[in-house]
Amino acid sequence: MKIGVVGEIHPDGYEIFNKNNIEYFVTNDTKEEHLIKKLRDVDGIVVRTAEINESILSQIKNLKIVARHGVGYDNVDTEYLNNNKIAMAITGKANATSVAEHVMTMMLCLTKNIFESDKLVKLGKFQEKGNLPNYFELNNKKILILGFGRIGKALSKRCLGFEMEVYVHDPFLSDHEIKDFNCIPIHKEEGFKIADYISVHLPLNSETKNLISYDQFEIFKSNLILINTARGGIINEQALYEALKNNKIFGAGLDVFEKEPPIYNHKLFTLDNTLLTPHNAALTLECRKRMSVESCENVVNFLNDSESLNKSNVINLNILNI
Ligand SMILES: NC(=O)c1ccc[n+]([C@@H]2O[C@H](COP(=O)([O-])OP(=O)(O)OC[C@H]3O[C@@H](n4cnc5c(N)ncnc54)[C@H](O)[C@@H]3O)[C@@H](O)[C@H]2O)c1
Repeated sequence: MKIGVVGEIHPDGYEIFNKNNIEYFVTNDTKEEHLIKKLRDVDGIVVRTAEINESILSQIKNLKIVARHGVGYDNVDTEYLNNNKIAMAITGKANATSVAEHVMTMMLCLTKNIFESDKLVKLGKFQEKGNLPNYFELNNKKILILGFGRIGKALSKRCLGFEMEVYVHDPFLSDHEIKDFNCIPIHKEEGFKIADYISVHLPLNSETKNLISYDQFEIFKSNLILINTARGGIINEQALYEALKNNKIFGAGLDVFEKEPPIYNHKLFTLDNTLLTPHNAALTLECRKRMSVESCENVVNFLNDSESLNKSNVINLNILNI
């Protein structure tokens, strides 16, 4: 049995392979030609962000599982996996805390003008604090969480801790499931009108691409802070840029971009009312360890020990007949 790890992961995961006497190799070269050659004889793949497309997958005759180090799997051709009854696994338990904390960090930094205050002190202008623009509290503000899965739920608990009013839009959940978390179910358009904060936590697909674009920026309150740690493209970047430049909203925090990495002279980089991070919301040390262990466990348990497999991590279980 042989596993290919595409992109270095925390060593704790390799311990799982070692303990189970499973042969594995790690490759950081993610070019298609290289992966076709390297992965030809593997039984399973652990992958970070590299694209695993049909040209690669169709060359691997013994492949049984692709395990994502993370929860999004838009970089893997799942249609090919489904058609060929190959499992697709994610690290469902690993990410939510880190990403929810990242969102809180972005909301707090933008709301409290933290970077301007920091600059003032370091420039020796301590006494000029009265000249800082207004900054605010999260207390009693309304947040709209779009998508109430693992991360949306983790975020709601933290927002409630800050005594915010938490509204949720998720058409795949009942009102009851949302109310169980002390949150208020709301229709998207209604939420757009009242929100002081919006945080996006849903997958990117043909339904959700440009979910927030020019029309929505006409509805939002001018004090809105918009956060996207889900996937680039759910918020139209050009529309966001224009809204921020014209102060139609107060600010935005983005961990994800339409194209990653974004071009070096991206227009959003020129604005002061943005806080941008390099798709690292889930890359705290704790989270990297959890993702590494969980992705390797998914592979080992799927191949060797189905009793121990966390079946909720296998997203296409229904087509595998297990
Ligand atoms: N920035 C990062 O490092 C990072 C890390 C982990 C996850 N993510 C991304 O965060 C997102 C959420 O992850 P998760 O683990 O919470 O996923 P999840 O599958 O647990 O939850 C997604 C939720 O979105 C809901 N949803 C789907 N379509 C919707 C729509 N049109 N409107 C409203 N709700 C909708 C689903 O019902 C589900 O409850 C994913 O896009 C994932 O790729 C980013």
